[in-house]
Amino acid sequence: KRPIRIAVMGAGGVGSKFLERCLEWPEMIEVDRILVRDASKRRDHPLAAKFTSDARSFVRNDVDVFVDIGTGVSPSAELLEGFLKAGVSVTSANKQAVAASADKLRAAAKASGAMLTYSASVGGGAPIIEALKRAVATGHKIKSLAGVLNGTSNFVIDQVESGKTFDAAMDEARRLGFAEPDSTADLDGTDVGAKLKLLREIAFPGQTPKHIEVGQITEDSLVIPKGKGLRYVARAYPTADGLQGSMKLEVLDADHYLVGARGEQNRAIIELDNGETWYVTGKGAGAWPTSESLLADTLQIAREMPLK
Ligand code: HSE
Repeated sequence: KRPIRIAVMGAGGVGSKFLERCLEWPEMIEVDRILVRDASKRRDHPLAAKFTSDARSFVRNDVDVFVDIGTGVSPSAELLEGFLKAGVSVTSANKQAVAASADKLRAAAKASGAMLTYSASVGGGAPIIEALKRAVATGHKIKSLAGVLNGTSNFVIDQVESGKTFDAAMDEARRLGFAEPDSTADLDGTDVGAKLKLLREIAFPGQTPKHIEVGQITEDSLVIPKGKGLRYVARAYPTADGLQGSMKLEVLDADHYLVGARGEQNRAIIELDNGETWYVTGKGAGAWPTSESLLADTLQIAREMPLK
């Protein structure tokens, strides 16, 4: 069998790690082209010859998978839709782009028969999307979903609790590659909002909450009562009044499962209609978990789709 041929967008922290992993497996994956803002800056990269800044001719159906490691809605959303329309399966780590254009992307995938995957968009290495998909695929109804979905803010809460200043903790989260390019997105619900949207669309298809309470994280808000734990928790649960949701700081018991999400970890609690509760945990932010998740989706596409 020939290697799967991929086109990649993005070669920052996560992208570089992903490309490194691809280079370890030349018999499995062949990187055909990599879209970056300025290809001339990449001359010393082992894949230098593959870098391009030409977005206009980037969408072609000569690859098996498009791997989107972009940030912000554009141009990821257009490229994802373009590749799907051309019959090329995609995987995306770009939660903002997928959340903003999920309906269009699903329609494009349905029309062409290509696969749309985005496990890396939520949870990093914590398989939250995978768990929800499995629960739904086996006919379960989901009673509730609660999760810690942002690694940066969780890391900052823990650092502040252990005596660091808020600013020093944020700087450290940026240095470690956890934070968004504009790190206010990690604190004001923008990042978690996109992730919660993606999760609830899988868990509660066709149901949109009328209102979602959105809390912010500020230096002053990080007050942790003694013997308790503080977490920024995203929730969604159906009620007789429709789907309800919230994302905000919550004071929880110190032994609560979500308080156990340490540092940049993500965690989710999924309650099923049959009384079962599923617990999901993993590293939620950073180059390693995100690139592994992209790799897993890429290889899954290769297993499920016939190579052209
Ligand atoms: N900035 C995000 C976080 C990256 O901290 O969770 C992973 O989505």
